[in-house]
Amino acid sequence: MRVLVTGGAGFIGANFVHTTVETMPDAEVTVLDKLTYAGNPKSIEGLDRVNLVVGDIADMDTVDPLVADADVVVNFAAESHNDNSLNDPSPFIRTNIEGTYTLLQAVRRHHTRFHHISTDEVYGDLAIGEDRKFKPGDPYKPSSPYSSSKAASDLLVRAWVRSFGVEATISNCSNNYGPYQHIEKFIPRTITNLIDGIRPRIYGTGLQVRDWIHVLDHNSAVWEIINKGRIGETYLIGANGEKNNLEVTRMILAEFGREPDDFDHVNDRPGHDQRYAIDATKLEEETGWEPQYRDFAKGIHDTIQWYKDHEDWWRPQKAAVEAKYAKNGQ
Ligand code: NAD
Ligand code: TYD
Repeated sequence: MRVLVTGGAGFIGANFVHTTVETMPDAEVTVLDKLTYAGNPKSIEGLDRVNLVVGDIADMDTVDPLVADADVVVNFAAESHNDNSLNDPSPFIRTNIEGTYTLLQAVRRHHTRFHHISTDEVYGDLAIGEDRKFKPGDPYKPSSPYSSSKAASDLLVRAWVRSFGVEATISNCSNNYGPYQHIEKFIPRTITNLIDGIRPRIYGTGLQVRDWIHVLDHNSAVWEIINKGRIGETYLIGANGEKNNLEVTRMILAEFGREPDDFDHVNDRPGHDQRYAIDATKLEEETGWEPQYRDFAKGIHDTIQWYKDHEDWWRPQKAAVEAKYAKNGQ
């Protein structure tokens, strides 16, 4: 099977590439990645049957021949960080919307199976304590330039299925954690701050809830959807991992032997979504998927160890990331 993985040098895509070549001996993987600040070729270095093409998913001349050579395209490529989208939305429009449009036109032309990776953030947020989770048919109510550009890309996929018969599926997953996540994101930022002796930064109250899932559980669900999902359908991926930001910070502080209140409250994110939570019943019933990494405390322990063991991977970016946050008072 020839698999084209866009964004395969980023966090989730790189983990997907690792698992794919480890578990599918017949898989040949081509990674198409622009290597933005978020892409790191070291994350997929040295893997057998993996070919990295550096290029833009919004560039049809690059995309078309790669899609022509693929049996399936899995689209992880995106601008993915809410805080960046608040500072400058333009790359989010170009990559997330125009890039998805370009891929859709190519898979339409070559009749190639397409899986689009999206986020639960397209549904907006839930109230803290509310007895409700996101379901696949819920209305789209994105809050940020990031989530609205992902929502737009999902709607393009649905339209290309209906109008042009493109064979596509969509998955909307909750917050991922695990190895190779960029250190601008909450969990790796907190871990690498503590490695450097910096107090963790909590936006606002810290009572906001995220539904954490290990990246390898996300990716096993993606393969189940590619293999067993119904064309045109949307599947929500989640592992019942709701925790608020204070709880997560305190778990990480405890791993470092620090006091539970050894953090700073900093400026809140404008438009900050309060709570995400996923109802994954449809995915579980239709594909039989279930998460393997259910022990969040162990997952956090192993992730901390990974960042301690891979300082060469993240160290070059640390100073610039913290300088960027400092400008926002975060
Ligand atoms: P990431 O930012 O770590 O990686 C994105 C990758 O895409 C990088 O390697 C980057 O170089 C590449 N890229 C960016 N623009 C590109 C372009 N124009 N052409 C080609 N490559 C480009 O992101 P991630 O966390 O791995 O997220 C991957 C996907 O999963 C995104 O679509 C995101 O919306 C979605 N998602 C992420 C999470 C999460 O918690 N991280 C949760 C749900 C869904
Ligand atoms: P983030 O990792 O940016 O993911 P998302 O915006 O997709 O949920 O942030 C996760 C949560 O952590 C979110 O509520 C914002 C918060 N946060 C902090 O409190 N401190 C930080 O340093 C960062 C980066 C995020």
